[in-house]
Amino acid sequence: MLTVAILAAGKGTRMASSQPKVLHELSGKTLLQRVLDSCSELKPDKIFILVGHKSNEVENSILKNKNIHFIVQNPQKGTGHAIQVLSHQVKENKGKLLVLNGDVPLIKSKTLKRLINFHDSKTADVSLISTRKKNPHGYGRVFAKDNLIERIVEEKDCNTDQILNELVNAGIYCFSWVSLSKIINNLKSNNKQKEIYLTDTISLLKKSYSLEVEDDGELQGINNRVQLSKCEETIQNILKEKHMMRGVTFINPASCTISEESIIGVDVIIEANTHIRGNSKISNNCKIGPNTFIKDTVVNENCEIINSTIFNSKIMDNVNIGPYSHIRPNCEISSYGKIGNFVEIKNSQLDEKVKINHLSYIGDSKIGKNSNIGAGTITANFDGKKKYVTNIGKNSSIGANTVLIAPINLGESVTTGAGSVITKDSQNNSLAIARSKQVNIENWKKNNTQD
Ligand code: UD1
Ligand code: CA
Repeated sequence: MLTVAILAAGKGTRMASSQPKVLHELSGKTLLQRVLDSCSELKPDKIFILVGHKSNEVENSILKNKNIHFIVQNPQKGTGHAIQVLSHQVKENKGKLLVLNGDVPLIKSKTLKRLINFHDSKTADVSLISTRKKNPHGYGRVFAKDNLIERIVEEKDCNTDQILNELVNAGIYCFSWVSLSKIINNLKSNNKQKEIYLTDTISLLKKSYSLEVEDDGELQGINNRVQLSKCEETIQNILKEKHMMRGVTFINPASCTISEESIIGVDVIIEANTHIRGNSKISNNCKIGPNTFIKDTVVNENCEIINSTIFNSKIMDNVNIGPYSHIRPNCEISSYGKIGNFVEIKNSQLDEKVKINHLSYIGDSKIGKNSNIGAGTITANFDGKKKYVTNIGKNSSIGANTVLIAPINLGESVTTGAGSVITKDSQNNSLAIARSKQVNIENWKKNNTQD
């Protein structure tokens, strides 16, 4: 039987944040969710999450699941105290207890499996993951002979020799739960921090083993925002390298971020300062960026998007967008569309080959195939209370600086005169023009104004 305990009750003072540490995010996912995801892959019988500081917020961040139980540790007197609270509330202590620090978010399930197998092979009382760090600052130092650990000394309790020890505790432990139960209540808080340390179980148990692992970033603990940004960098580097190996070119990878969920096709070129977030899909042969932000959006093949922002939309093949376009949620831009500079589009369907090249706002609209929307066209879709729809039929030409007062329906092949304010529907093949006639007054002299 395998039980997991995730320690997530601490405040995370060193984050200098009003938010609990485990709710800080890495590439859009909280630290706690990441730890949970990697241990869920082991299919444990039960998972306990130790919460305390802002416990409601931490609990609400996790989707309800009958396998996951929250245990409140209040006050928080240390990692060992957290496991004392757990063992008082959970009497059934069969099998193995895997304890994970909630602030070591990049731990891989593969490494957890290795620890469990190692633990079984040694029939250990406890096994933990250790690693060598050139700069071990902030970690508990592990003192071991071969694989057998004598004790762990927390940094603040180290003497001048101990502090130089490069073998550190990663904060991931596999206990024989029965062995642990026998000594858990013997932990004391006679240390610099006056906390009950889980690491003191090591010297209380007989068969304490260390599994030394080479750290490629997965064992990084997060105590402050510098470490948070290092983990973000680790995730992003892995992701971008994966995409590069599968046929994506990054012109300046360091300036770009990609979400783990996003899919990118082959021969896609991602220019500098481009961010692809949420559930996005970029198909083959697209060129994206520089300076582009795309979230929850599907982009089909052969599109070029430059200096633009797109949310929750669908861009079909061979579309050009930008520079400086803003596509807001729920837009569909069909094949061979062209959206140019300073164009904002929201909740609108554009059929094939629609062009909106300059300085427009298009909201709640449907625009038919081949229509051209002239510079400065605005759909006035809001009367202060409600939003209304604009329909423009295919092959239409909307003149520059037209204002379309919605609700309004223009038929197919309609032309509007430049500068018109269109308030009435118009039929197929008509010209709609609504502006005052120009008057020319000849030999006009300005009135002499008095000083
Ligand atoms: C801990 C280990 C240290 C190890 C390091 C690895 C102890 C005493 N030290 O130190 O040996 O090298 O992790 O990253 O365990 N927490 C609770 N309840 C509490 C206190 C903490 O649930 O009362 C939780 C925190 O929310 C956090 C985790 O335990 O997720 C670790 O606590 P933290 O204070 O960050 O321990 P470290 O000083 O990093
Ligand atoms: Ca920590």
